[in-house]
Amino acid sequence: GKVAVLLGGRSAEREVSLMSGRGVLEALRSRGVDAHAFDPAERDISDLRREGFQRCFIALHGRFGEDGTVQGALELMGIAYTGSGVMASSISIDKVTTKRIWLADGLPTPKYILLRRGAFDRKQVMAVPDDLGLPVIVKPAREGSSIGVVKVEDYSGMAGAVEQAAQLDADVLCEQFIRGDEVTCPVLGTGDNARALPVIRIVAPEGNYDYQNKYFTDTTQYLVPCGLPAGEEAAIQAMVLQAYRVLGCRGWGRLDVMIDAASRKPYLLEINTSPGMTSHSLVPMSARAAGISYEDLCLEVLRTANL
Ligand code: DAL
Ligand code: MG
Repeated sequence: GKVAVLLGGRSAEREVSLMSGRGVLEALRSRGVDAHAFDPAERDISDLRREGFQRCFIALHGRFGEDGTVQGALELMGIAYTGSGVMASSISIDKVTTKRIWLADGLPTPKYILLRRGAFDRKQVMAVPDDLGLPVIVKPAREGSSIGVVKVEDYSGMAGAVEQAAQLDADVLCEQFIRGDEVTCPVLGTGDNARALPVIRIVAPEGNYDYQNKYFTDTTQYLVPCGLPAGEEAAIQAMVLQAYRVLGCRGWGRLDVMIDAASRKPYLLEINTSPGMTSHSLVPMSARAAGISYEDLCLEVLRTANL
């Protein structure tokens, strides 16, 4: 039957989603899938039912796409879709709620302080580095692709970083900075059948893996095989599988992890339940290292769309 590739949308990651969606669309078509682009920012989502779509490949990122809202609309219409369901999507978009669940399950994630817009004052902002040390990572709780993320190096940077994040989200996450290796690990499948793909180690210019270095520069290095000491990669894969399962995720996802340079302890940063599929994106890179082509990856993810 007809497959809609949902792309674009109206989050801050719209441009990234357009790149992801175009890649997926082309790959599915090249394998004979009757796939069509559908941008819910430009269309009425109920057109999906009127036009007879039976399945959706969700290539939307961020809010109104990765956060359970579109998933809920598709559930109501009885249309199957790729990836996590309503609850796992809405939990996973929220980095603070995600961390709470991981901590309750004994999983390591950096220490944090949540500031809620309208409910914090300057004194509380300035007290954050007292608790978490410096640098502090300040981020909106529900954005992606590093949008609004600031690494604050000293007290004087705190107020501006929090103010910027608070413009993007009512919840501002202040997180302890873990100095060390930045890695990411995709998961494919669901429940007992979920498996972790190879870990990728990211070496960005000046250690700054920001929006620009994620999608547009060619100087970010992606190491796969990751070259980590023996045992570390397997331990990270086991950890991300537990982290994925405890959130109730389905289909696929990608978990971002920092490894503390001094202790070699890995810390979970976040999960992406609709990971990027652009030419610079990490899940396709890891899959390729596991012998899975971009086209086969798209087909495997599409097969996870079941009602
Ligand atoms: N949020 C972007 C799309 C990613 O994690 O790949
Ligand atoms: Mg993310």
